[in-house]
Amino acid sequence: MTVLSLAPMAGITDQVFRRLCFEQGCDWATTEMVSAQGFLTAPSDRNAYRFLLARFPEEGRLSVQLFGSEPAYFARAAERLAGLGLFSSIDINMGCPAQKVVGGQSGSALMKDPALACRIVESTVKASSLPVTVKMRLGWDEEHKNAVDFARGLEQAGAAGLTVHGRTRMQQYSGKADWQAIGEVKRAVSIPVIANGDIVDGKTALEALRVTGCDGLAIGRGALGNPWIFAEIRAAIEKKPYTPPPFSQVIDTAMRQAREMAEWKGERSALLEMRKHFAWYTAGRRNSAQVRTKVNLANSFEEVEELLRSLLPE
Ligand SMILES: Cc1cc2nc3c(=O)[nH]c(=O)nc-3n(C[C@H](O)[C@H](O)[C@H](O)COP(=O)(O)O)c2cc1C
Repeated sequence: MTVLSLAPMAGITDQVFRRLCFEQGCDWATTEMVSAQGFLTAPSDRNAYRFLLARFPEEGRLSVQLFGSEPAYFARAAERLAGLGLFSSIDINMGCPAQKVVGGQSGSALMKDPALACRIVESTVKASSLPVTVKMRLGWDEEHKNAVDFARGLEQAGAAGLTVHGRTRMQQYSGKADWQAIGEVKRAVSIPVIANGDIVDGKTALEALRVTGCDGLAIGRGALGNPWIFAEIRAAIEKKPYTPPPFSQVIDTAMRQAREMAEWKGERSALLEMRKHFAWYTAGRRNSAQVRTKVNLANSFEEVEELLRSLLPE
């Protein structure tokens, strides 16, 4: 069966959002990225890690994602995380393009040092009882697209699966994801490969599966304000009809996400964190730009809900 996964997104794929995606047929999700070294050295009551590692029991298969550059930190962090009993696999971030991450030789910078990347996978596999997967890109830049050899090395090092974002580090999020190149990685290894990049609806999902021949799809930005994308893609795969939810249901879902986040982090934090989600849920609606400005000034969820409902047709 084709696996549909929610791609990790820092600041977004927390337990509240993930649960909404699981309810719509997502098979597998990943936490936001967690620094291996930071996790090991932070005091155990540090809020940041409590939030990053929190999961609802009714979520489905969940991977915890680590970033870093030091094999020994990965090994120790993986061992401790596996011991928590919360996660079904450990994912290693070899795709993040952010300067503050690659500056520390982490994320996509590891694609420039395949030997280190393999040592990280080996140490993590050795230390953890859980399967270890890697999220990678096509390479560092146009001149250094080493995804095929890189993936073969990771497989040999013990990786149990790969998610490949079809861009180089230098492309960041620009241009179009190269699904052909993801297909080359898929054909080069025998572990499962998940295709990622620019899958935004049923049509692009079917096309990505056809071009890459991959075992599954990872959806990132296409799920923002649209957890129903998993139901839409599953329907497309099964050749069944799909009807998007009415906007009243979209508002109900946005408000449910807000209230669940408030129960967890308090209303003030939730109001701030939900601003971007409210913008995604209402994107493309008439008058949504004006309403968004007002939502960003609102002091309570009651105010927000009234503003969102003003976008409904009379
Ligand atoms: C806001 C944001 C945060 C992200 N954070 C992470 C992360 O923590 N770990 C990771 O491996 N990828 C991260 N990504 C990359 C996505 O997982 C995904 O590879 C990328 O967005 C391409 O897929 P898409 O076109 O479906 O969005 C992030 C992407 C975005 C837009």
